[in-house]
Amino acid sequence: MMAVNCTLQILLLLFILLSPVAITAGATDTFSKGQNVTDGETLVSAGGTFTLGFFSPGASAKRYLGIWFSVSSDAVCWVANCEHPLDDTSGVLVVASDTGDFLLLGGSGEVAWSSNSPNTSSVEAQLQESGNLVLHDQRSKTILWQSFDHPSNTLLPGMKMGKNLWTGDEWYLTSWRSPDDPSPGGYRRVLEYTTRLPEVVLWQRDAKAYRTGPWNGRWFNGVPEASTYAHDFPLHVTASTSEVTYGYTARPGAPLTRVVVSDAGVVRRLVWDASTSTWKTFFQGPRDVCDAYGKCGAFGLCDASAASSAFCGCLQGFSPASPPAWYMRETSDGCRRNVPLNCSGNGTATDGFVLVRGVKLPDTQNASVDTSISTEECRARCSANCSCLAYASAEIREGGGGGSGCIIWTGDVVDLRYVDRGQDLYLRLAESELAMPKSSKFAIVTVLAPVASVIGIILVLLFVIICWRRKHKISHKRLNDCIPQSSAMTVPSVDLHTLKQATLNFSETHVIGQGGFGIVYKGQLPDGRTIAVKRLKQSALTKKGKCDFTREVEVMARLRHGNLVRLLAYCDEGEERILVYAYMPNKSLDLYIFGEPSLRATLSWRQRLDIINGIAQGVAYMHEGSGESVVHRDLKLQNVLLDDNWRAKVADFGTAKLFVAERADSSLTIVNSPGYASPESLRAEMTLKCDVYSFGVVLLEILSGQRNGEAQRLLSHAWGLWEQDRTMAVLDSAVNLPPLSRPDSHIGSELGRCIQIGLLCIQESPDDRPAMSDVAAMLTTKTSQIAQPNRPGIYNRTRFVTGQADLTRSTIIDLE
Ligand SMILES: *[C@@H]1O[C@H](CO)[C@@H](O)[C@H](O)[C@H]1NC(C)=O
Ligand SMILES: *[C@@H]1O[C@H](CO)[C@@H](O)[C@H](O)[C@H]1NC(C)=O
Ligand SMILES: *[C@@H]1O[C@H](CO)[C@@H](O)[C@H](O)[C@H]1NC(C)=O
Ligand SMILES: *[C@@H]1O[C@H](CO)[C@@H](O)[C@H](O)[C@H]1NC(C)=O
Ligand SMILES: *[C@@H]1O[C@H](CO)[C@@H](O)[C@H](O)[C@H]1NC(C)=O
Ligand SMILES: *[C@@H]1O[C@H](CO)[C@@H](O)[C@H](O)[C@H]1NC(C)=O
Repeated sequence: MMAVNCTLQILLLLFILLSPVAITAGATDTFSKGQNVTDGETLVSAGGTFTLGFFSPGASAKRYLGIWFSVSSDAVCWVANCEHPLDDTSGVLVVASDTGDFLLLGGSGEVAWSSNSPNTSSVEAQLQESGNLVLHDQRSKTILWQSFDHPSNTLLPGMKMGKNLWTGDEWYLTSWRSPDDPSPGGYRRVLEYTTRLPEVVLWQRDAKAYRTGPWNGRWFNGVPEASTYAHDFPLHVTASTSEVTYGYTARPGAPLTRVVVSDAGVVRRLVWDASTSTWKTFFQGPRDVCDAYGKCGAFGLCDASAASSAFCGCLQGFSPASPPAWYMRETSDGCRRNVPLNCSGNGTATDGFVLVRGVKLPDTQNASVDTSISTEECRARCSANCSCLAYASAEIREGGGGGSGCIIWTGDVVDLRYVDRGQDLYLRLAESELAMPKSSKFAIVTVLAPVASVIGIILVLLFVIICWRRKHKISHKRLNDCIPQSSAMTVPSVDLHTLKQATLNFSETHVIGQGGFGIVYKGQLPDGRTIAVKRLKQSALTKKGKCDFTREVEVMARLRHGNLVRLLAYCDEGEERILVYAYMPNKSLDLYIFGEPSLRATLSWRQRLDIINGIAQGVAYMHEGSGESVVHRDLKLQNVLLDDNWRAKVADFGTAKLFVAERADSSLTIVNSPGYASPESLRAEMTLKCDVYSFGVVLLEILSGQRNGEAQRLLSHAWGLWEQDRTMAVLDSAVNLPPLSRPDSHIGSELGRCIQIGLLCIQESPDDRPAMSDVAAMLTTKTSQIAQPNRPGIYNRTRFVTGQADLTRSTIIDLE
């Protein structure tokens, strides 16, 4: 029972002196003919990273020979005799003296496993620092056999998946049967390459379970997470005439990492956190419901954030093939084309393409790929060939934008979903289907709350779609006046007539909300769907704001997050600028926080914490989660809506930008609400940190139930109490606390922490405020350290505000 460890020189020395089995003295990672490794002994790689030896997985008592990470012995990355376990500890690994094979022998001399390597007289075995167990010819140094060629359930840096097209050798991962049984389980992770555009597919026996999406030149299209770790673990994809493979390496100094297929069919990229001695999950697939292969069937589109439409919708121009099945959430039958394509035999057609933005591209199994042509040529090729139903770029460009190469789909479009930093897919549709989609064409499996008319605002559900703006609806003259924009939008435009009908010509009886920027109406579409229609005040819009409208809408539409409301459609006709959201019979947060005691009591302590968390997540996503950096500019309680589950949804992001006042005499531009505006925003410096400040105010208002207001009273009040360690006094007395049986001190510390985070957010200097993502992390990680806030600059600023009152008033547009 001896462990060889090259760092423990003394032990090693003892081992060499005492043991008759000296495993190649001086080089503990190698052994050759005539030597062996028995159960209880181990072989350790030169740098100590990997260990080879016998082990029993989980609760099993059986013995297996395997390789594991020395720092984490349950992280087994290769198993020799996975199908032929030994019943006792009599096993021994030898290099056969006649053939030079590895042989794993049991107690009675039976062979439990053999490497079946070429017959060579002079061989040496080595456990390399990469975790690769290698048999090489001592003279020619050629590799005769290596464990990297026989993967288990783990892909290590330097390993490959895929196929050698010359030799026919194939490498894939196979899950264990269970944590106690490393024999082959139900899942295989295979590199598919039928199109020479590789993608990794997880198979559950003979059915696809999960695809990563095709390789886009930088990462697998459906795994944008890779962009965050590709620096430390560069991905390598080779698609040549000799091999199609995928693997990754690790930069020197990078932490330990492995990719594992679990017995439950989940693929994880794990990275070793040496400070906590745990494996951190950097990627996990399937990630959510939409990753289940073919979830929404052919021509369906899955949206993981659209719980209100049961995640599935049909692409524009398609309807559920079987509506009753869809109602029962059986969506795998997919969708049917509404209007047949009009493609004559020689390709002259009136068909067009609709853009589906930001998706994991559909299954490429039957697609054809040409990486040598441009995306424009791809469009022409697809246009000219009636059997082409959709196309997309094969590779994305650095820094976003278009792409190059061409993928053409001629069969069903299967396994399509929205994904962060996804690609653009162009779908062929008959001319009549290219216009603004009529709602009846969508699969709405929405469960609308039966309770009716309460003053509400907006929430979002987005139904899948994208739309070419009707060309005749866009005045070319106006377009030219403005900055050029892309011709395709992520949200459909809707005509004014439809919205007038829906709101009884913007009837006053339909008004459900009013703000500085516009009036919100409740409307009803012919199909019965209720919508919230926000008609922006024309007088408040700046000239630039009018021009920028569609571009801003585009930005807003791309922000998709569970804590942000989502845009359904927009209208940009003549002087009108209108935003359409799905209506939900719920309200904005201020109505509860500043409401009557009974309304205040609706939101418990726990719910308030969840709401604060949700807002932080939503704003953090706007700031850095979406690939763009969007400043909200007008974060306040009125702009936080609550869904049926009291989940916070941040509304109105980006809109404020359209209203920025431009004064001819100075560069001063201000849009903010009194009490929420950071000091520098009053000086017209709009940065992400302005939102952090507003968030701090929002947080303290939610806890205290008090309005901050222009005099910043709440901030000084909260600071005072916090300084005196009287944090419980900050909490609104109407808030329901958990039963007294639970120790109050627990709430006290959570509350204190929360207030401290709020006070950090309202620091005078933007540099002293944490980034929104840090705020979100501090709110969720109860144990992390939080900096001590400085005394906020409220006192100084009160003077500033009063001294500059005229200036402030004249430039604040959105007065309450
Ligand atoms: C393993 O090696 C030791 C010492 O070299 C030897 O005595 C023993 O018989 C070997 N066992 C097997 C199964 O070869
Ligand atoms: C392996 O080679 C040796 C001589 O090099 C020979 O004696 C032996 O029979 C060979 N074994 C097999 C299985 O081919
Ligand atoms: C193809 O188009 C040409 C005109 O461009 C027309 O003469 C011909 O009949 C068309 N062929 C078919 C099969 O529609
Ligand atoms: C189909 O296309 C032809 C031109 O190729 C056009 O004349 C005809 O109107 C189109 N039919 C429909 C239904 O769009
Ligand atoms: C590809 O074609 C084969 C054979 O027609 C079919 O079985 C399979 O479902 C197709 N795959 C996709 C993703 O359409
Ligand atoms: C249309 O595309 C299909 C599939 O890529 C191809 O087999 C066919 O030859 C093409 N037809 C023409 C006329 O190019």
